[in-house]
Amino acid sequence: MLRFKTIVFDLDGTLFDSAPGIIHSWHYAFGQIGENPPSDEDLKKFIGPAIDESLEKYSSLTEEQMQRIIPIYRNYYYEEGYRKTLLYPRVRTLLRTLHEQGARILVATGKPERAGRRILEYFHLMSFIDGISGVGPVDAGVDKPMLISRVLKDADPSTAVMIGDYPSDVSAAKDLGMTGIGVTYGFGDQEQLIASGCMLAHSVDELFPLLTDTVPAKKGFFLSVEGLDGCGKTTQSDALERSLREFGFTVRRTREPGGCPISEKIRDLLLDIRNEEMYDITEALLYAASRAQHVHQVIRPAIEDGQIVLCDRFVDSSVAFQGGGRQLGVELIQQINAPAINGYMPSATVYLRLDHETALRRRANASALDRIEKEKAEFHARVEAAYEQLAEQDAGRFIIVDATKNREAIAEEILTRVLERIDALEVG
Ligand code: TMP
Repeated sequence: MLRFKTIVFDLDGTLFDSAPGIIHSWHYAFGQIGENPPSDEDLKKFIGPAIDESLEKYSSLTEEQMQRIIPIYRNYYYEEGYRKTLLYPRVRTLLRTLHEQGARILVATGKPERAGRRILEYFHLMSFIDGISGVGPVDAGVDKPMLISRVLKDADPSTAVMIGDYPSDVSAAKDLGMTGIGVTYGFGDQEQLIASGCMLAHSVDELFPLLTDTVPAKKGFFLSVEGLDGCGKTTQSDALERSLREFGFTVRRTREPGGCPISEKIRDLLLDIRNEEMYDITEALLYAASRAQHVHQVIRPAIEDGQIVLCDRFVDSSVAFQGGGRQLGVELIQQINAPAINGYMPSATVYLRLDHETALRRRANASALDRIEKEKAEFHARVEAAYEQLAEQDAGRFIIVDATKNREAIAEEILTRVLERIDALEVG
């Protein structure tokens, strides 16, 4: 049950930690006009108030320099700087939950509307948002009550709430006959917020019970990344890890074979090119042994703690490489691995699809090859075929991505499709 029909959020300091992007963009803008920027501490105070007021207070720029620097800052922030914004943890889960429960979710921001919209799009949040108002290109002197009433339209203010980090957010709510909630984790003056007597939230988690009585528990998620050697798995996992962290998720990045001290020792044994005489069954058992320790010590605890486990390779690799490549068969590999996995299978698996010939060419350019990578082309052709079969059989779990596309396009596709799974499984 929702406590309010309409929920209006401020952006900076309420949904996003905008400090890194704003500070970075001011550094750039001051550099462009050949002046030193104020300290980062002072630049943080730029978040919220009007830009010219802050420049007057914290810099010694002349009027003419101020006229020059503002558009430089705005354009750079809009094109580049906003990418350094961070979403506060659990914001996605909060918006998704409220949206699913039927709330009308609105945004009222003191930043240019196009910048607000761009950041919401960057974080894939627009599907939860029903309306946004921000400063337009010809809006001189627009204040928070105006921005809020613009986005409220004909909604009944007595069933609406405004959530923001500035005392002016909650006083605007009061003036309009709405409830105000102040968040103390943002950039606004905490003491003034407390003194205003409004409801307070010290974290996004504390917002949940103020807005709804059905609060979802924090839910973990197991995600693996698979593909032939040379498919770009590490690069893409790095990018995905970075994005998920920016999106406020707690990510436990790990890999197989390895991921914890005992399993890393087994990894060394498995990949050592001197171990040429290793028997195929020994190899399959060692991969499973390293997995058993890894699931027990890393994967299971992290999922139970509500984290996202991002694992480079998991049991699908054993099915593809030992089952397919070494021709031990799927069934034997599944039997060997059952006690290792102990029921912990990924909820989603990103498969970077690349044919074995292209993968081989890519590997040939890399430096030292390990014992498995050194295998002949036929081995890798069988691995490819096994992956294809797995992906076809378990189409609901696999996210198949064309690994021949450019790096940025692949990263964006993976992120979009992983977020779809995260939302569908109510992760976060
Ligand atoms: P990596 O280079 O992706 O870290 O993986 C190490 C090698 O181990 C790679 O060639 C794939 C192989 N491998 C298997 O053969 N079976 C497995 O179960 C796993 C996890 C990896």
